[in-house]
Amino acid sequence: MRADEALTLLRWQIAIGADEAIEAVAPDRTRPTEAPVRPVAPPPAAQPSPPSHPPAYPPTRPPARAAATGGAAIPVERRVVAMPGIAASSAEIAAAATDLPALAAAIAGFEGCQLRNTATNLVFADGNPAARVMLIGEAPGGDEDRLGKPFVGVSGQLLDRMLAAIGLDRNSAYITNILPWRPPGNRKPTAAEIAMCLPFVRRHVELVAPEVLVFVGGTSASAMLDRSEGIMRLRGRWFQYRSDEGKKTTDAICIFHPAFLLRSPAQKREAWRDLLMIRSRLVTPD
Ligand code: URA
Repeated sequence: MRADEALTLLRWQIAIGADEAIEAVAPDRTRPTEAPVRPVAPPPAAQPSPPSHPPAYPPTRPPARAAATGGAAIPVERRVVAMPGIAASSAEIAAAATDLPALAAAIAGFEGCQLRNTATNLVFADGNPAARVMLIGEAPGGDEDRLGKPFVGVSGQLLDRMLAAIGLDRNSAYITNILPWRPPGNRKPTAAEIAMCLPFVRRHVELVAPEVLVFVGGTSASAMLDRSEGIMRLRGRWFQYRSDEGKKTTDAICIFHPAFLLRSPAQKREAWRDLLMIRSRLVTPD
């Protein structure tokens, strides 16, 4: 093959998202390897943008409730002291984080998941942590990995339009993912990766304490609700999401992933129904 042909082929592979050298079988990236740990950029601080139009309902929670998620309101600091040679588990590390910056720093320092070695950036969250609504997607893609923010690529743009249709934006919603690092080549997260990162996202929910949870796509829905059904069965109804301590429940709903809607536009009618359910819940709380 000539050099210019090889270059054209390479450009085409990058354009379709094949920008990592990966094997046919996904390696278990929850296992430690000898590979050097690539430093991960600290997560960018969430910078809410001003709302483009006033929503029909209060976008954020009353200050007292929102403030209760901050570090100052939680006096007891739970520390994990790792024994020499024994890495603390993601569950121990997550439980020790008493506010969002601490959780972001804890994830950034977590070396148990090898996805961080192929990712460019940690993707922690975007939006307003005092918002009433928290959305949880699957995992960052290429654009999110480059920019360090969730849902900023093509499917993120559709998600923004879906939110705008019910009066929400990134000032009145908070967004994260099950996995904080991009799986190479945008492959599906493995069960082991999801299990390892789940304590982080569950702690994330506890610290944000939203009024409404929206699980975006089947991977997020089944992981967060611990259900085996697919998104077709899980969407369109309300669930009670239980926090780790089991004391608190939060209204939760599952919606189609925008990447799926881009491939299957006929499902947009059902997606609209789900969005209307979220809007009704926000207009008529409890
Ligand atoms: N898909 C997701 O599930 N999350 C993102 O952040 C981007 C695409």
